[in-house]
Amino acid sequence: MAMIQIKDLTKTYRDLTAVRDLNLTIEKGDVFGFIGPNGAGKTTTIKVLATLLEPSTGQAYVDGVDVVRNPLEVRRLIGYMPDFFGVYDDVKVWEYLDFFAAAYKIPVNKRKGIIDDVLELTDLTVKREAYVESLSRGMKQRLCLAKTLVHDPKVLLLDEPASGLDPRARIEFRALLKELQAMGKTIFVSSHILPELADFCNVVGIMERGNLIVAGRVSDIVQKLEGGIVLDVRLTGEEENGARALQLLQGYPEIRDVRAEGNHLEIEYTGAHEHLPQLLSHLVGNGLPVATFAQRAADLEDVFMKVTAGAVQ
Ligand SMILES: Nc1ncnc2c1ncn2[C@@H]1O[C@H](COP(=O)(O)OP(=O)(O)OP(=O)(O)O)[C@@H](O)[C@H]1O
Ligand SMILES: [Mg+2]
Repeated sequence: MAMIQIKDLTKTYRDLTAVRDLNLTIEKGDVFGFIGPNGAGKTTTIKVLATLLEPSTGQAYVDGVDVVRNPLEVRRLIGYMPDFFGVYDDVKVWEYLDFFAAAYKIPVNKRKGIIDDVLELTDLTVKREAYVESLSRGMKQRLCLAKTLVHDPKVLLLDEPASGLDPRARIEFRALLKELQAMGKTIFVSSHILPELADFCNVVGIMERGNLIVAGRVSDIVQKLEGGIVLDVRLTGEEENGARALQLLQGYPEIRDVRAEGNHLEIEYTGAHEHLPQLLSHLVGNGLPVATFAQRAADLEDVFMKVTAGAVQ
C-alpha cells in the first residue's frame, strides 16, 4: 500500500487556488522531492499532509489513514519539519527534545535514550547542554530534524530543510537524509532547486502555480523532456575504431545521431533504458574495444527551466 496518497486535492484561499487537483502516490521507502518556485503550493500541500490545513476538496492519506478524519493517528505517523520555526528562549537542546518527547507521550524512562540517539544521528551530541538560541542556523535546522524523529515516525515531511544552509552544511544534511532513508523512512522533502534533490530522491514532482507539471523518476523525466539520452562511449586502440563504430551505428534503430571524435563517440539514443545492454553487446560483438559506456548526466537545471515557465504565483 502507498505510504502517502493524495487524491484530487484542491486548496483555495479565498479566490486563490494554491493547489489544484493534485494526485500523488508515494510508496514506502521512497524519497520524494517536491520542487517548485515560490508560491507553487509546496507548503500548502505539506501542511495538508501534516494535518495543519484541511483540503478544500479531495483527500490525503498517510499509511492509509485519512488526514481529515483521523488527524491524531496521522500525527503519530509523521515527523513534520516546517519551513519556519520559532525561537525558544532559555531552553537547552536536550530540554527542547525532551519537551517534544513528552508531548508524544514517550515515557520518562525511555526519553533519555531516544534523545541521545537523535542527538547522535544529527551530530548535536556536543550541544546537548547548549541553549537553543545559541545554535547556528544549520545546527537549529538539524535540531528541528532531531525533534521530528523522537517518536520514530514512518514518514518525514520536510519543508525546505536545507534552505539557508552553507554548501558544506547542505552536503551534511543530505548525508543525514540518506541515513534516514536507509533506516526505511519514507521522506517527502521540498526544495526550490531540482539539482539539490535529484541525487538522493528516487522520485520527484515539479509544481508550478498550484499545478503538478511532471512527476516520476528523475531519469524518466529527463528522458521524456529531452526526447532521449546522450551516451558517452570511449574505445581503446587505434583511432580507426571510432570511425568503424560510427559506421556500425548509423542505421541502428533508436539512434538519432552519432558523432565521433577519434575514439570518443557521442550517441543520441531515443530507445528504452532496458535496451541499452543490447547496444553495448552490438558494439562489443562487432569487435569494438569499448572502454567506457556511460549515460551522460543530465543538466538538471536545464530540465527544470524547460519544465517551468518561471511563473511565480
Ligand atoms: N494563509 C494563506 N492565505 C492566503 N493565501 C495563502 C496562504 N498561504 C499561502 N497562500 C498562497 O498560496 C500560494 C501557495 O503558497 P505556498 O506557501 O503553498 O507555496 P510554496 O510553494 O511553499 O512557496 P515558497 O517556495 O515561497 O515556500 C501562494 O500564492 C500563497 O500566496
Ligand atoms: Mg513554502
